[in-house]
Amino acid sequence: MKKILITGGTGYIGSHTVVELVNAGYKPVIIDNFSNSSIKILDQIEKITRIRPEFFDFDLCDEKATLEFIHQHPDIEGVIHFAAYKAVGESVEKPLKYYRNNFYSLINLLEAFTSRKVNFVFSSSCTVYGQPDKLPVTEDARVKKAESPYGNTKQVSEKILQEVASVNKNLKAISLRYFNPVGAHSSALIGELPIGVPQNLVPFITQSAIGKRGEIVVHGNDYNTPDGSCIRDYIHVIDLAKAHVAALKLLENKIYSQQYSVYNIGTGRGSSVLEVIQAFENVSGVKLNYRIGPRREGDIEKIYGDVSKAEKELGWKAELGLNEMTSSAWAWEKYIQKNSL
Ligand code: WQD
Repeated sequence: MKKILITGGTGYIGSHTVVELVNAGYKPVIIDNFSNSSIKILDQIEKITRIRPEFFDFDLCDEKATLEFIHQHPDIEGVIHFAAYKAVGESVEKPLKYYRNNFYSLINLLEAFTSRKVNFVFSSSCTVYGQPDKLPVTEDARVKKAESPYGNTKQVSEKILQEVASVNKNLKAISLRYFNPVGAHSSALIGELPIGVPQNLVPFITQSAIGKRGEIVVHGNDYNTPDGSCIRDYIHVIDLAKAHVAALKLLENKIYSQQYSVYNIGTGRGSSVLEVIQAFENVSGVKLNYRIGPRREGDIEKIYGDVSKAEKELGWKAELGLNEMTSSAWAWEKYIQKNSL
């Protein structure tokens, strides 16, 4: 059973990926410092998979601890690196917090694997594209000036990976550029656990629907889109988790000769804010309390991915739609309330 290290493995996407790795017959090992998650998620993963993953709580920014850990685990064959700060707004207020954390953790991991083979999957983001000139956006689209320090850490981290993989033949790496991850596991035992007031659309919708938040503000309906609200490529977190397993399998494939590659991970379809609201109301039967407000600083108008490269080379394609995304998010919100998670 191949041992795979998942950094940030108790986080939103990390925890769903741990479940899919177990389903695919891998042995997951998690490193997490709970800066944006809860240890309770380990219990939830165990409830779903019947396996409690090996777990280590330390900060990957600690070079000594990271080097020692990797040295003590010579049987780790792959890494899926999620551990990073990801709040766009906070990154603008505290850039050094983001640069230190997101770069030091990646550099320490790469340093630790310098002298041995490793398959490395990196959690990147469509945020590297900014507002693409052409849609759907392809992986070779121009990477624009980052709109935030968070987005900059993703752009530079991709560059670091590409450059290290080009000189260190022990490292084979793939960056997955996520579009907008939403939804929760079908068991409703794991999902997104935003800390504080959710910045993202779907967790705010579910918290408003359950009465934890007030009215939803739609940030602008005067964009150049069919209904005036912004368009995004929302992808179910289960589909996204499966894409990480597909990327790992490709890196393990002896025929695969690339040192570094990038894949868009989305559905290839755009949905507007108002369409997401409509989908949620349809599946939940809950009438949402929302109003149209001003545009949000830093929002791009529309983006959705060309996902043909992932379909062709990863053999992966998103299967779940907005209804499953919104219904699973709603089931998870109700589970959180009932179990005071
Ligand atoms: C989606 C749309 C909002 C909340 C962010 C990060 C990105 C990535 C995914 C990490 C926008 C609108 C939202 C609300 C609203 N994260 N909205 N009312 O901004 O596309 O992407 O998450 O990689 O880096 O930037 O996602 O969910 O915040 O917003 O109208 O209360 O919903 O204006 O048009 P976004 P989001």
